[in-house]
Amino acid sequence: MIGRLNHIAIAVPDLEAATGLYRDTLGAKVSAPQALLEHGVTVVFVELPNTKVELLEMLGDASPIKGFLEKNSAGGIHHMCFEVDDILAAKAQLVLKGARVLGDGQPKIGAHGKPVLFLHPKDFNGVLVELEQL
Ligand code: CO
Repeated sequence: MIGRLNHIAIAVPDLEAATGLYRDTLGAKVSAPQALLEHGVTVVFVELPNTKVELLEMLGDASPIKGFLEKNSAGGIHHMCFEVDDILAAKAQLVLKGARVLGDGQPKIGAHGKPVLFLHPKDFNGVLVELEQL
């Protein structure tokens, strides 16, 4: 069901410092920061040949990564995103197998303008999993 690894998202306390680390220390191509108000994060995309890394910084007090950064003050891997062909078919299959979809269970438009769903980390070895329909 799942296809390519679309991205790994890393929550960071300081987006400028993290961007510099990927650009200057690791020599990667990075995007300009994008403030995504409706998602409560500012994001920088790190473009790699085979996938992306997304650096996420809190935006606003209701940011969904606030609790994560409180527990992980240096930052950390927040989620990974797999591509699927049909997000509703994938969801139906997963629910049938007992996996829990976060939120109201309906796909939302994610940071790339495509429908996404998040799956409960307790059902996936402690990893928050995002599915994105391309
Ligand atoms: Co993501």
